[in-house]
Amino acid sequence: MSAGQQEKSPEDLNIFEAEETLRALAAEIARHDELYHGKDDPEISDADYDALRRRFDAIADRFPSIARTLAPSASVGAAPSAGFAKVTHSRPMLSLSNAFDGEEVTEFVNRIRRFLSLAADEPVGLVAEPKIDGLSAALRYENGRFIQGATRGDGTVGEDITRNLRTIDDIPTRLENAPAVLEIRGEVYMRKDDFRALNQAQEASGAKVFANPRNAAAGSLRQLDSSITTRRKLRFFAYSWGEVSERPSDTQAGFLELLRDWGFQTNPLTRLCGTVDELLARYASIAEQRATLPYDIDGVVYKVNRLDWQDRLGMVSRAPRWAIAHKFPAEQAETILKAIDIQVGRTGALTPVARLEPVTVGGVVVSNATLHNEDEVRRKGVRVGDTVVIQRAGDVIPQVVRVIEDKRPAGSVPYEFPAVCPCALKTPVIRIEGEAVRRCGGGLACPFQAVERLKHFVSRDAFDIEGLGEKQIQAFWEDKLITQPGDIFRLKEHEAALKKREGWGEKSVDNLLAAIEGRRSIGLDKMIYALGIRQVGQATARLLASNYGTLGAWRTAMLEAGKTAPDGDESTDMPNDALSDLLNIDQIGMSVANDLIAFFAEEQSLRIVSDLENELDIQPFAVPVAGDSPVAGKTVVFTGTLATMGRSEAKARAESLGAKVAGSVSKKTDYVIVGARPSSTRFCNP
Ligand code: IVH
Repeated sequence: MSAGQQEKSPEDLNIFEAEETLRALAAEIARHDELYHGKDDPEISDADYDALRRRFDAIADRFPSIARTLAPSASVGAAPSAGFAKVTHSRPMLSLSNAFDGEEVTEFVNRIRRFLSLAADEPVGLVAEPKIDGLSAALRYENGRFIQGATRGDGTVGEDITRNLRTIDDIPTRLENAPAVLEIRGEVYMRKDDFRALNQAQEASGAKVFANPRNAAAGSLRQLDSSITTRRKLRFFAYSWGEVSERPSDTQAGFLELLRDWGFQTNPLTRLCGTVDELLARYASIAEQRATLPYDIDGVVYKVNRLDWQDRLGMVSRAPRWAIAHKFPAEQAETILKAIDIQVGRTGALTPVARLEPVTVGGVVVSNATLHNEDEVRRKGVRVGDTVVIQRAGDVIPQVVRVIEDKRPAGSVPYEFPAVCPCALKTPVIRIEGEAVRRCGGGLACPFQAVERLKHFVSRDAFDIEGLGEKQIQAFWEDKLITQPGDIFRLKEHEAALKKREGWGEKSVDNLLAAIEGRRSIGLDKMIYALGIRQVGQATARLLASNYGTLGAWRTAMLEAGKTAPDGDESTDMPNDALSDLLNIDQIGMSVANDLIAFFAEEQSLRIVSDLENELDIQPFAVPVAGDSPVAGKTVVFTGTLATMGRSEAKARAESLGAKVAGSVSKKTDYVIVGARPSSTRFCNP
């Protein structure tokens, strides 16, 4: 694709020319990827590279069927992360749960009161801070010197971006009177005016234009070359901390003051509030100023001011109980629905997807939106050709909200939900009573489900293999190099062939194989999550891993739980011991149990699991706290009203000391903590 060569616009290409051009572009892009990432010796400027990418994408948009098989395999567009070292956060970087209205905020504060068993007249001070729409970063200071900065990553492991963070003026390199170890957390963002200027410059040089300030900040922060980051004007608001050798304050408000003394920027709209009404008034005021603020925000975060209360409140899953994000309502826009396609998810759920005339919503171009399921399509009465209102909130997939019936074209027809899976097998779709979704009954035989399961397997919170993303999985799957998870760990048998593959070179294949080897040792919780069992998310996977300890014990128990009592047994309807144990895990109910049993009832699942068992070194789940706590590893049941703290707090405290909390007494119970007026049912189980 040398400069000056006559280039036809995508519209003028016929399908044969398109294929030839896409093939050439993919090879060219791959060669430059290899030069840039593999050899650190680029031949062309970033702008020229982006122009190649844009031409590929423009043709690919017109000829998606050819493009699918030809897409360049290396990570698209954004700087790859291969060059950044990993950093394990000494304290996990949490996310926030959301509230969307005043009622949910009231419920949040009531929950806190209940958890802490506060008297009705005890005030709860909360700090309200704007929620900055940027990227969180952790800055580690030792003896007052900035020594390391990292991205959030998956919350446990991030990437070392120290060099890039050093280019940000808002980040002091030295702190006076700071604790010996001090990790400051906050948000890296780009101002709206800097974003506009950057995009103008990008456009003028033919380089990639960013969709919004957040993407621009992300792209700038993850540059391997920090001289590029220097030229992008990034800023930083500090709002939180990670590891500290001594706690510098007793309150969030006091901590923010210290941050300012150390030279950090804190957000000027932050206020300490004493009641829900004050929080909501602050929210309204910030919402009113939103459009005129120089940076993007997407809500207001409320945080319990007293840090001793924050400690007691602790966290659930990956979010603190002491904070919540009150989000701004989603932004809406009108556009035309061009088609309804069906996507098949990893559990076989058929999701109707609206293909839209591209439209900008809150600064982002949207061309697809979800229609959720059959009932939603019917309830909203959407038809192809309709003008629809769509909305987009934060990172959530855009949704179709409603149809503007006055604008319906003549002759449109109601949408018929397909009765068979769109895959080649055309398996009939089933709708289980009480469920909103239709599912393809083909299980892992359905190619869509099989490939979606593989994508989930390598996703960020599961195996997270560098260089093996959705695109690569799709391509390897089509070429039958990876048809089940275990194949990933045998990919090295194809090393020579891979190195000859289009878009791959010596170095990128070596990197990929090394990344795969690096994941051969994996925690049981991640392994369980990676299997993609229905309703088994990260939290449930952790519960299962901590309760069963090893893969073998878990599998045996699940298979056992699936066995019905032998014929003639009086107790046919009674759960067997394995099923009782499973149901006795706090937070696991019959519905999840059924999905677990169904998974292990499939022969293919068993084959996949034992194949992985041979390939991997699966680490037993580590109890979070040192084993010297007397309740570590013990099963505890709470019943009745406890005198000194609420039951939720007691449960959370026991869990943080490594105990497993069960709902009722069984053979496995080690301790029963009986408060006043215990419930007799908790003693009933076998
Ligand atoms: S506190 C334990 N405060 O929102 C609490 N987060 O949705 C951790 N964010 O990952 C976060 N502004 O990147 C906090 N004033 C603020 C924030 C804020 C933006 C981001 C942060 C976090 C995400 C969670």
